[in-house]
Amino acid sequence: MSNKDAYILAIETSCDDTSASVIFNSKVISNIIATQHVHQLFGGVVPELASRDHEKLLLRVIDKALANSGISLRKINAVAVTAGPGLAGSLMVGVNTAKAISFGLNIPLIAIDHLNAHICSINGGENTVVFPFLCLLVSGGHTRICLVKNWFTINTIGETLDDAVGEAFDKIAKILNLSYPGGPIIDQIAKTGNKEKFKFPTPIVDGFNFSFSGFKTSVLYFVQKELTKNQNFISENINDLCASIQSSLISILLDKFIKAAKTVNIKNLAVVGGVAANSELITCLNELKKQKNFNVIFPDIQYCTDNAAMVGLLAWEKYQQNIFADISLIPYAKQ
Ligand code: KG4
Ligand code: ZN
Repeated sequence: MSNKDAYILAIETSCDDTSASVIFNSKVISNIIATQHVHQLFGGVVPELASRDHEKLLLRVIDKALANSGISLRKINAVAVTAGPGLAGSLMVGVNTAKAISFGLNIPLIAIDHLNAHICSINGGENTVVFPFLCLLVSGGHTRICLVKNWFTINTIGETLDDAVGEAFDKIAKILNLSYPGGPIIDQIAKTGNKEKFKFPTPIVDGFNFSFSGFKTSVLYFVQKELTKNQNFISENINDLCASIQSSLISILLDKFIKAAKTVNIKNLAVVGGVAANSELITCLNELKKQKNFNVIFPDIQYCTDNAAMVGLLAWEKYQQNIFADISLIPYAKQ
């Protein structure tokens, strides 16, 4: 182990996943994710319940991440934590735990932005990252297009004006009587559906911005109208509904993203965040790659939804530049 090498313990508690990871330089050694199931009963994340579950789970998750890595806490050289954006109470659990570890072991504390960590998740697999690249960040809380010049210079050139695309998947799943989180369920059911069966309007939004709230409402009105004619409409058409809705959402994303890439004249593209696990999106991206017009990379599927490994990967970049926080770190709910 040279002077520059580092074991980093990373913590993620920004929403409803309690996660800890151990990284050695840029290599993920362990990554434990405890997804909180308590929210399923409510069809969405309940902030107060999320913080309570983080408090219950975090130390056990950290112990497991250390045990799986074979590295003892004493050997850890720095501790990294998501400082925001996210749910205020949930962030506080992770940040206060990281502060205690940093203080107790006298090791540096590294504050990580959750969205930038999602972007850095592409470092977790076999990808070769070439700067600058254009990144489509699609999660439950955010939808944006970022121009990534390097890990510390990330400019947003477009974003959603209302709901995030993951949120649209989740809310539409609720309309279709499916459980939470809706994205992976719609993805699964859509596999045996006809995506041409139903047509939904494409939102018209300026520039590289998005809007998904109107789209969700158009699905709601369409389903309500059909239910007045046939009360079994949803169950009889669920596969075609999921396939058509998913296909529309993915083309809204990709049309804007490709338009942005052509405008800023960048051929290196990345897609990250929970919705990057979507099979239709992955198929379309692989098609783009085949046409060789763009180089497209996306994270290993295990690093798409919230996880601490992506926090550790960005922390390693900061560690090498000595960019550290201190005990006065305060989590931020909004970026
Ligand atoms: O990145 P993430 O774990 O959390 C946030 O930072 O928000 O993303 C969670 C979101 C949820 O909205 C979930 O429905 C969506 O990602 N998601 C998917 C898929 N897997 C997760 N959406 C569509 N298709 C999937 N396969
Ligand atoms: Zn996230």
